[in-house]
Parts: sequence; C-alpha cells; structure tokens
Amino acid sequence: MPEKRESAIIAALFSAKTTVLQVKTMKPSSATAISHPNIALIKYWGNRNNVLRLPSNGSISMNLDGLFTRTTVTFNKTPEDTLLINDHPISGKGLERVSSILNLVREMANIHDRAEVSSANNFPSGAGIASSAAAFAALAVAASRAAGLTLSEAQLSRLARRGSGSAARSIPGGFVEWQMGTGDENSIAFSIAAPEHWNLTDCVAVISAAHKKTGSTEGHAIAGTSPLQNARLADTPRRLDICRQAILGKDFETLAHIIELDSDIMHSVMMTSNPPLMYWQAATVQIFHQVREWRAGGLPVGYTVDAGANVHVICLAEYAKEVEKRLRELPGVRDVLVAGVGGAAQTV
Ligand code: DP6
Repeated sequence: MPEKRESAIIAALFSAKTTVLQVKTMKPSSATAISHPNIALIKYWGNRNNVLRLPSNGSISMNLDGLFTRTTVTFNKTPEDTLLINDHPISGKGLERVSSILNLVREMANIHDRAEVSSANNFPSGAGIASSAAAFAALAVAASRAAGLTLSEAQLSRLARRGSGSAARSIPGGFVEWQMGTGDENSIAFSIAAPEHWNLTDCVAVISAAHKKTGSTEGHAIAGTSPLQNARLADTPRRLDICRQAILGKDFETLAHIIELDSDIMHSVMMTSNPPLMYWQAATVQIFHQVREWRAGGLPVGYTVDAGANVHVICLAEYAKEVEKRLRELPGVRDVLVAGVGGAAQTV
C-alpha cells in the first residue's frame, strides 16, 4: 500500500470518535484495540460444533501487518448494544453476533451494562481478506478490557473464536497455529514464530472488492456435504506438519507447495459441497498459472485463496516489489495490497 494512502487512512481511523463517546456518560468504561487480519496457510473449513466454532481441523496462518481493524467498546447505560462499522450503524444479524460476544464478556465480568461498539477497517471487507478475523479479535480485546477483565492470550483467543473461528488466530502475533483442541477450553491459537522470524510478504491481488454471496459461516455448515471433506480432514495433520516445519526452517519452496495444495483442496471441497460454492473467478485461475510459471522461472512465490476471489501471493520480502509490479500488469487485478507479517492484537 502506498505510504501516503496508508497514513491518510490511519489518520482518519484515529479520529476523535472515542472522545465523543466518552463525554456522553458520566462514568464510561471504554477501551480501544487494534488487530490484524490473517491469511490462512493451512485452512480452517468446517466445524464439529457450529455454535462453539470448534473446527474440524487445525490451521496455520500469518497475521497481515499494515492492514487492521480498530475497535472501541464503551459500556454504559444505553438501553441496547449498538454497533457502528466504518461509521454505518449495523443492526440485525451483524449486531446479534457482536452482542453474543459482549454477553460472554458481561457474564465473565458480572456486569449488565450495554455497550457502544465502533469499528473501522482500513481494507475492503467481505472479499476474502478475513475481515471477521480482525473484527472479532479486536472486539474480544477491547470488550474484555472495557469490562475490567485481564484475560490471558489463550482466553482472548478462545473468546475471539466464538465470534469468528479465524479470529482466534488474530490474537497472537506472527505465525500462528490454531489447535482443534478437545473442546471449548483448549481450542485456541498460539504463536509458533514471531513476526521477525521470517520476512514473508503477502501481495493480495484484489480481483473483486464486492461482498461475497455466501459467507464462511454458511460455508462451514455445508462442508460435510462434500464427499471430499473427509479425505481433506484425514490428510490435514500431515499438511500442518509440513507447513509448520517449512515455517520454522524457513523453507520457501516447501511452503509454496503445501499452501497451494491446501488451498486447492479446500476449494475442491467448497466446489463439491451442496449447494456448491465457487469463489474463484477467471482472473483468480489466471493468477494461479502465472504464479507457477514465475516460480518455475526462479521467483519464490506461492498462492493461497480464502473464501473469496482474491489471490494472496506469498513471497519473500525482497521480491515483493517485483511481485506487486507483475500482479498489477495482469488483467482483472484491480489493486494489490502488500502486507508483511503482523503482530498480536493489542489495546491502544
Ligand atoms: C476460508 O473464520 O471467517 O478463510 O467462524 O464462520 O466466522 P466463521 O468463519 P471464518 O472462516 C475462515 C475460512 C477461511 C479459511 C481460514 O481462514 O482458515
């Protein structure tokens, strides 16, 4: 992302909103948190418990530096929970999902106040850049702090998971593994390597910034209808091991192969579920071909795609400029977001 544009967005997000909220009540209990989205290198797809968001398999991701959600939570005497996303009031299902996390926090803190939640992203939501991950990680951190709780990283990861599974992975920093666990208590994510461990960069080729038709939550619920899901799950421990070792050993070639395989397997499940989900567009597939050609020509790159059409092209940081330039020249690529490895969710 060009520096000027990024600093303009950051300036806008860091506006005086919290001050305005604070003068509304006598004794507000307010906190603000920032969290990064993450890109899954080994994907989470399907739940063994949809309510608790207990995943059918473990997953590995890296946080995306420079992209973030900033969320402020203020508990006060307002009659209902309210939610603003990018300054737009949200009601219905979106608000209910946030309230369910606030309810867990209220229960833990033994408080009954309603909350005003205000959240903003500096990246397009709903297009495969895991906006729900950053959103629920920031919400978990801000809401628990505003309620006066001091939660451990594991407790925050568990709380964020209840809002969106992948949000469990946006709580710790750097390269993160979310273990399936045996239940609610231990299905949590932890860092396997710090951001400084390996200078990887994600060049996100934005093909469509439009909101996708079928969200991940509905997708997880039908994953089991694909005849391929069981085979995918049976092989996941092997892919997790290969990916974890590739990260720890900084073996890019192995990483590139395993993330492409894992992404292709998940999309095979999506395409063969009932109803079928086809997130790829023509330009998505075009980039797959290009990335493999570039790699064969000596450029260290690998692709992965979440639940959207955008392609995350992972490369070593020193090649990011070249990768960005090549992606921008391809037909159908509207923009390229460039992100290094991001840190943990935190209060500000
Ligand atoms: C394809 O975490 O967005 O991005 O728990 O319903 O919010 P919910 O789903 P979500 O699913 C992410 C799916 C994915 C793969 C991944 O991030 O691991």
